[in-house]
Amino acid sequence: MSIENTREQLISLINSALDIDGLEKIRVDIFGKNGELNKLKREIVNIPVEQKKQYGQKMNSIKTDVENSFESQKNAIEMKILNEKIAKEKIDVTLPGHYVRSGSMHPVTRVLYELCEVFKTYGFSVEDGPEIECEDYNFDKLNIPADHPARDMQDTFFMENGYVLRTHTSPVQVRTMLNSKPPIKIVSPGRVYRKDDIDATHTPIFHQIEGLYIAQGVTFADLKGILMRFLKDYYGENTQVRFQPSYFPFTEPSAEVYISCVACHGEGKSHCPVCKNTGFIEIMGCGMVHPQVLTNCGIDSENYSGFAFGMGIERIAMLKYKIKDIRYLYDNDMRFLKNFVR
Ligand code: PHE
Repeated sequence: MSIENTREQLISLINSALDIDGLEKIRVDIFGKNGELNKLKREIVNIPVEQKKQYGQKMNSIKTDVENSFESQKNAIEMKILNEKIAKEKIDVTLPGHYVRSGSMHPVTRVLYELCEVFKTYGFSVEDGPEIECEDYNFDKLNIPADHPARDMQDTFFMENGYVLRTHTSPVQVRTMLNSKPPIKIVSPGRVYRKDDIDATHTPIFHQIEGLYIAQGVTFADLKGILMRFLKDYYGENTQVRFQPSYFPFTEPSAEVYISCVACHGEGKSHCPVCKNTGFIEIMGCGMVHPQVLTNCGIDSENYSGFAFGMGIERIAMLKYKIKDIRYLYDNDMRFLKNFVR
């Protein structure tokens, strides 16, 4: 190759490279040990002395030009690869996105949290207790001795060695009283068990929330005040609340609490399936803690008094969210559960 047309030939060789591999081959051919540029360099021995300087200058200028065009060809190829990659991977931001389903709380859990939140604003703290409970705490300390007919009120799952699956959350009252000194102001939500047949309002496993307030001079008026405030806060200011005398072995006096029907708003219209035309629905049990229960749990009943209440969380949820059948809460049917996605 004569030095005269080397420049053009090498540049057109470089420009013929289509990809990085091709260019690499050409790089070796041109810049390698036995490449074209070194060949030119070695040629200098055959150049007459007086032309050597000119030859050297020419060679350097060729080298610079060839290097420059190599660089720009390399850039061009890299740019082409990048552009192809961008074209292939480009994101069309105008396309609708993929919908990410978010999980949600089960309605029972949600109501349980809601109830705890409301009672926290009244100064109650939240306590926990075991689901496998000793008979002593589930019954005896609550003034329900072995031969007491009240034990029949609750169909119990008995376990071995004097243990039961707790039939209510009231044993948490016992535990709290045994473990702490008044003033006591707690709510305790949790799972309870009864041998009930499954129907629209019963399941053998359900949830309750228990409330207990013990201090000096607590009266039935305090109980009424708290529960009326709670029911209006939770079901709306227009909710009417009624107390009706009742009986629980662990409270005296005892009451059942009713609210105006969430469906017919207390009108007791004919054919209201929710309140059976009475206008009111029973929502919880409550009363002043029986002095015997205070004594059983190490609290001086001369000095202290208190109230307790207990309600079924499923029932609260069904009335709040107008759920007709308790089984909806446990069928895990997405058509039902998705209504509770916030
Ligand atoms: N433990 C009662 C029940 O399960 C409810 C209740 C709690 C009643 C506290 C009065 C006081 O039915």
